[in-house]
Amino acid sequence: MNINECLSYDDVLLTPQYSNIKSRSEINIGAALDQNHNFAIPIISAPMDTVTEASMALKLGKMGALGILHRYNKIEQQLEMAREVRKNLPEDLPIAAAIGITGDYMERATELINGGVTILCLDVAHGHHVLMKNALSSIKDRFADKVHLMAGNIATKQGFKDLAAWGANSIRIGIGGGSICSTRIQTGHGVSTLQSVFECAKISKASGVKLIADGGIKNSGDMVKAIAAGADMIMVGSLLAGTTETPGEVIKNKDGHTYKVYRGMASKEAQMKWRGKTSSLEGISAFVPLRGSVSQVVNELSVGLRSGFSYSGARNIFELQS
Ligand code: IMP
Repeated sequence: MNINECLSYDDVLLTPQYSNIKSRSEINIGAALDQNHNFAIPIISAPMDTVTEASMALKLGKMGALGILHRYNKIEQQLEMAREVRKNLPEDLPIAAAIGITGDYMERATELINGGVTILCLDVAHGHHVLMKNALSSIKDRFADKVHLMAGNIATKQGFKDLAAWGANSIRIGIGGGSICSTRIQTGHGVSTLQSVFECAKISKASGVKLIADGGIKNSGDMVKAIAAGADMIMVGSLLAGTTETPGEVIKNKDGHTYKVYRGMASKEAQMKWRGKTSSLEGISAFVPLRGSVSQVVNELSVGLRSGFSYSGARNIFELQS
């Protein structure tokens, strides 16, 4: 057994650097997942049933960010969401949707690609797995480069190398770090996401396979740290939870305060809803206060990102990382 020292977002601060940037408008926070998928804002909403359905994906798409339609529904329901996004978004903007790696995943993938989805997210809790290898290779065999394949989650260099070798175009990094995650308590497993990002970044840059930091991002400062450590884009759940565009009912308490539910997909509540039974419980369910529109929240995060780049004297992601 090796015991390594790991640093997490709250253990780290970036040292301010000399800057010759006169206005934050000179800063470009844009990112790319590949040649065909460019984003003005490096933020991705998590494929969770209390975060991303059509309304979230549409709003983020229009802002130049990305929403991944969750997979915890029937294929027709997810396809309906993809169609709604496709009709309402300009043709050149990408649509992303999640699939699993067992059961009907190939049928789901086929329907979604036919429905206009250009980014498929192979979305499982433990992505460094033989079933991921099989799923990536089957999808690559059938669709070649017709679709961008995002895969995860993983936490180690070996995980990153393997998923890249199996055909992933981008990889979600982060095991155990999500705000609604109880994987570390239930299973004893996990790695600080910042540490995982830092360790996988070299392989990512050398291979061209993009790196997405996922889970535990609490504010724009954490985003700047994750990007500085090597992330291309940032996936968030809790930061967008409670916005108008998230699915779910508005709940009012007796004092008149309003809330929505935000829950882990491995929470008891989510598992009961999508498969009618529970297996290992690795997530929790929470009430979060309503907090306005997603554009307001993402605009605030973007302002923070620009300001963070400016403290490092960086005009873009490349300069921040170097
Ligand atoms: P947050 O941004 O810290 O709220 O984390 C969101 C991330 O948590 C998602 O993108 C997933 O990677 C992860 N996640 C979602 N549901 C669960 C769960 O039930 N258990 C553990 N991790 C989860």
